[in-house]
Amino acid sequence: ADPRADGHRGAEFVVVANRLPVDKEVQADGTVHWKRSPGGLVTALEPILRSRTGAWVGWSGIADSDDNPDIEGIDIHAVPLSTSEIAEYYEGFSNATLWPLYHDVIVKPEYHREWWNTYVEVNRRFAEETSKAAGHGAVVWVQDYQLQLVPKMLRMLRPDLRIGFFLHIPFPPVELFMQMPWRTEIIEGLLGADLIGFHLPGGAQNFLYLARRLAGQATSKGSVGVRSRFGVVQVGFRTVRVGAFPISIDSGELDAKARSKEIRARAAEIRAELGNPKTVLLGVDRLDYTKGIDVRLRALSELLAEKRIDPHETVMVQLATPSRERVDSYVKMRAEIEQLVGNINGSYSVVGQPVIQYLHRPVPRDELIAFFVAADVMLVTPLRDGMNLVAKEYVACRSDLGGALVLSEFTGAAAELKSAYQANPYDLDGVKDAIAAAVDQTPHEGRRRMRALRRQVLTHDVAKWAESFLGALSADAETTTSADRG
Ligand code: ADP
Ligand code: F6P
Repeated sequence: ADPRADGHRGAEFVVVANRLPVDKEVQADGTVHWKRSPGGLVTALEPILRSRTGAWVGWSGIADSDDNPDIEGIDIHAVPLSTSEIAEYYEGFSNATLWPLYHDVIVKPEYHREWWNTYVEVNRRFAEETSKAAGHGAVVWVQDYQLQLVPKMLRMLRPDLRIGFFLHIPFPPVELFMQMPWRTEIIEGLLGADLIGFHLPGGAQNFLYLARRLAGQATSKGSVGVRSRFGVVQVGFRTVRVGAFPISIDSGELDAKARSKEIRARAAEIRAELGNPKTVLLGVDRLDYTKGIDVRLRALSELLAEKRIDPHETVMVQLATPSRERVDSYVKMRAEIEQLVGNINGSYSVVGQPVIQYLHRPVPRDELIAFFVAADVMLVTPLRDGMNLVAKEYVACRSDLGGALVLSEFTGAAAELKSAYQANPYDLDGVKDAIAAAVDQTPHEGRRRMRALRRQVLTHDVAKWAESFLGALSADAETTTSADRG
């Protein structure tokens, strides 16, 4: 039915994401508990929805549940997924096909027709649920690689909506994207949006090329800027804009929390619990092969072997949130990382003082902030990462201008955080040198770098990201594009 016919009551602003902001957990005694969902998407979007009322369409993280948790200010619409849909749409097509393809094929993507069919079906279900949640003329913001067909499906159901799409992971080079058997369907799915956002101009440019080549649409050819100079794709009478909007964090909130007496006291306590070493190194990630946890462990192992780092003065803490635990490549990677941790501790620890302290569980938010405050060197070494919010969180927590950030060149954050100790994660000697330089930096050099990093992170927060995207989405296409059409 045409929603305009019945005046369609519903939210004026709708976020559509694979996950709800909270994950459902059913305890052994049957009681239900909701906890924060993993990942950077929820970290970024949760404060946005707290500041503007709206609806959130997503999945609760477990099978066959249509419970809508109570969250103040957010009208939750759960999309139930069956066990086989979780296996084929989420673990399969999203995380064993798209995720590795979009992250430089670090592991080999698997292409299965049944997974694709389920991806199409589940995207349709999300589009239908969104259509029910959205009021007439609402702004709908579809998120990430799990839902790339939703913009087109939703436009067919609800031509009255203003539809934005943001990709939270890298958009791959054209040569890799061309592997995808359903490449044209994905490009056409995305072209259902009015505005398509990527972290980096490079991703937007790759997309424009594919829109010409695969969907046969006329596009602009000029270079795309950061939050400016949007590209355009002409789809019949519709103009689709394509832009780069680097995501960020709620920097002000983190900065304030990290300055609090409680967090500072807990940070000191953490250092004491670690045996008051001279240097605390820290890694914080979802346990994912893209994060290069193995890279930093190998680098540390060689630095210890070469006596460039003293095991009696150094502790590395690796906090790793369990992730996608039923996907084969994740099972394999976890075993490799745990073996590396075991090897290093076996070779260099003394009883009661392991060199590496590894936690395979999520850490509460305030505790995590205390770890950021406590760490001398933050190790962010992904082989590929769309942005990496952890790097920005660390910087936001260092109002004392202490600490040092080691950052992979292959994160989106590297484009903004130029004063980090950057390294190519495939060049182990380069990573070792970056870690050694960060460990040995003078306080003066550390403050200089941290000041520059903080200037960037505190002035480019998640509110700015959302405002720039939503501002462009609601603006008239003709007045905000300057790119030439070719
Ligand atoms: P991704 O979205 O790929 O997981 P990001 O670095 O962009 O990576 O975002 C990860 C988010 O999850 C950050 O907000 C980070 O603080 C949080 N996080 C990561 N690891 C942990 C952990 N072990 N415990 C608690 N929070 C974590
Ligand atoms: O931004 C990357 C992302 O994949 C999000 O889409 C996702 O919600 C998050 O990381 C965590 O992954 P998952 O939802 O598979 O646990």
